[in-house]
Amino acid sequence: MFGQSTPTSLATAAVPPVAGDGGAPVAAQAPAADATGAWSRRHVLDLDDFGADEIEHVLSTADAMKEVLGRRIKQVPALRGVTVVTLFYEASTRTRVSFELAAKHLAADVVNVAASSSSVTKGESLLDTAHTLRALGADILVMRHGEAGAPYVVARHVPCQVINAGDGWHAHPTQALLDLYTLRERLGTVAGRRVLILGDILHSRVARSAIWGLTRMGAEVTLCGPATLLPTGDLPWPVDVSHDLDRAILGVDAVMVLRLQRERQQAGLLPSLREYIRVYSLTSERLARAKPGALVMHPGPMNEGVEIMPDVAYGAQSVIADQVTNGVAIRMALLYLLGGGAL
Ligand code: CP
Repeated sequence: MFGQSTPTSLATAAVPPVAGDGGAPVAAQAPAADATGAWSRRHVLDLDDFGADEIEHVLSTADAMKEVLGRRIKQVPALRGVTVVTLFYEASTRTRVSFELAAKHLAADVVNVAASSSSVTKGESLLDTAHTLRALGADILVMRHGEAGAPYVVARHVPCQVINAGDGWHAHPTQALLDLYTLRERLGTVAGRRVLILGDILHSRVARSAIWGLTRMGAEVTLCGPATLLPTGDLPWPVDVSHDLDRAILGVDAVMVLRLQRERQQAGLLPSLREYIRVYSLTSERLARAKPGALVMHPGPMNEGVEIMPDVAYGAQSVIADQVTNGVAIRMALLYLLGGGAL
């Protein structure tokens, strides 16, 4: 199943009728692969090469996983015998813990490796580390790395399936999928919805993957922030760009706020933090200009009082906790689909 030359395909791999504690079998909710056998990928590295049908397939599979998570015993034996290793070169709470929980809910064996307490500190290279983990039995490697492209290098050279849990400024596809899932859950559909992405878009892997996913699913996306924190030139996405938050937020269905990394000011990209807060922080007054009931999203971790005010972050329109919760179902869906779900 996990051999280098054997791509997993839901077109040929049956979705097993795995029952938990009396709940409906997963197969009852999980969709079949589409007519083209869309889920034939071996790795999840970004959403740039995902079509709308494939994204919908992941989201529908997450619906089935969410049903499992609602059961008294939140475990199905779909990935029994599969070894998932999380390899994180950067700090993480949400992504790492949700992948671990996701793997456990699917009965996989899961091992967590933090680069800071591994032989990486003795100079072991990324590829040596990944080859070593494969030799120890890793089937699926979930990795976060500070360098853009690192998961692609591992996927090319190491016979493991790879899920990108965040690489440099480049991509964070599982965050984008859980964001799409949360929007779809709350709004019914993503297509035609107006989504404002606010803050440091230039340095944000979350933003890049979210933009691919949102535009593929037919959302109207506006990027808003100071000129120094926005990408320039010909953008590869059909998006609007604005520096004027009070105008850009008018009537939107959702605001996705991004974390402002304080080192951006040290790098001279912001005149002052106070100025940024004054012009770009999401306050309740600004949120009132969005569509009534508009969703407030943030991938976390938040700088409360900087890019978002606490009353907004924890207010009635916030779905930030839902995003975290949905991360488990989305990551279950991805592990399940990559693992064939029929082991
Ligand atoms: N959103 C996100 O990636 O959070 P963590 O850094 O806590 O994983």
